Amino acid sequence: MITVSNLSFQFGGQLLFKDVDLKFTPGNCYGIIGANGAGKSTFLRILCGELEPTRGEVSIPSTVRMSVLKQDHFAYEEYTVLDTVIMGNKRLYDIMKEKDLIYAKEDFTDEDGIRASELEGEFAELNGWEAESDASKLIQGLGLTDDYLYLQMSDLKESEKVKVLLAQALFGNPDIILLDEPTNGLDIDAVLWLEGFLADYFGTVLVVSHDRHFLNDVCTNIVDIDYSGIKMYVGNYEFWYESSQLIQRMIKMQNKKNEEKIAELQNFIQRFSANKSKSRQATSRRKLLDKLTVEEMPASSRRYPFIGFDMDREPGKEILHVEGLTKTLNGQTLFKDLTFHVFKDDKIAILGNELATTALYNILNEKDTADSGEFKFGVSITTSYFPHDNTEFFEGHKESILDWMRQYSKDQTETYLRGFLGKMLFSNEAVFKPVNVL
Ligand SMILES: Nc1ncnc2c1ncn2[C@@H]1O[C@H](COP(=O)(O)OP(=O)(O)OP(=O)(O)O)[C@@H](O)[C@H]1O
Ligand SMILES: [Mg+2]
Repeated sequence: MITVSNLSFQFGGQLLFKDVDLKFTPGNCYGIIGANGAGKSTFLRILCGELEPTRGEVSIPSTVRMSVLKQDHFAYEEYTVLDTVIMGNKRLYDIMKEKDLIYAKEDFTDEDGIRASELEGEFAELNGWEAESDASKLIQGLGLTDDYLYLQMSDLKESEKVKVLLAQALFGNPDIILLDEPTNGLDIDAVLWLEGFLADYFGTVLVVSHDRHFLNDVCTNIVDIDYSGIKMYVGNYEFWYESSQLIQRMIKMQNKKNEEKIAELQNFIQRFSANKSKSRQATSRRKLLDKLTVEEMPASSRRYPFIGFDMDREPGKEILHVEGLTKTLNGQTLFKDLTFHVFKDDKIAILGNELATTALYNILNEKDTADSGEFKFGVSITTSYFPHDNTEFFEGHKESILDWMRQYSKDQTETYLRGFLGKMLFSNEAVFKPVNVL
């Protein structure tokens, strides 16, 4: 259980939230949502004690063990995967290391013997004998094989490190788990496994995510950071979304009604206040008017990007034909005899391992060639490519976002480019930020 009382936080002059009172209880999974920069990560950092609140307090019983998904992907380079996962339970890890040191001694004293037996007792209590098989279950659930346990973290790809760090956060049945955007960089199978794990979890889970499907599947409550406050709603994301839209609509409708009424009363007062016989009526209407207020709509920090594109010309029915495409990489077959047809208005999800999907996309965009087979886009089709790895677009670039964008645009005017960037929420001064600091 986590109890947050009267919590306020500000960075410099910027107030993120104030007067927050919340309780988080076991068996629930809380989805933390809010705009970029609303303060989601900051809130988690306050809960785990990494940041001091400006006012108020967070209380967590001392017997409770809390686990946090580490954000630094390179923090455990010199450790093995197994050690990294077990470090999720710091006490257990320390006991294992101290035990190893004692048993490695050549002159084993009586004191060492006593210490060792104490450690063995605590080790057993913490389920130490199961540690390796528990770690193995977690990393296998996330799609890594058992052999990974004995590899060095520095030998892993970043997408694999992310999985190990997630396994670390889930290891050893912590009472509270804090996860900041855990699905970033995970493949779909790993996301599904994580959903299953969290859905059944006995403890208290707080998870920050921008992925509404994930939030819908795992959350029992939604915690919304907006309007400089933090509010909790029972239910999943969809329920929160629908009800918050409804509340906004109701405030708007009520405001509209009140505005109309106010205008009508003002009109009446103006017309009749000079008229003796009607003046008493006008006075009573004036009293009514004083009671009517138009509530100020709270200003939300949410901004939604507009992602849309106009086609140069309407495409024909046939978009793409792929016929018998085969690709191998270092002797491994990525795909073989791949044949499919894409027609206008199709919406297609391409699933598969990262190597294979990237290779297919690179071939379709002529960045790579297939071993055999062919593909053909419809005659009037023009394409553009958003690759998984976008470093080459930014490497060595120091110009502003505005100038960077200009190289891809037919219309070179600042007004057009600003309008375009504005749809992606880069507004005002933000368009002058150098692209390499984003
Ligand atoms: N150390 C810091 N000093 C000053 N301001 C900071 C610091 N860390 C974060 N901020 C500011 O605090 C605000 C909240 O940041 P935070 O990282 O908590 O947002 P978030 O909700 O997690 O956003 P995102 O969805 O982008 O991850 C932002 O405006 C950020 O610029
Ligand atoms: Mg964040």
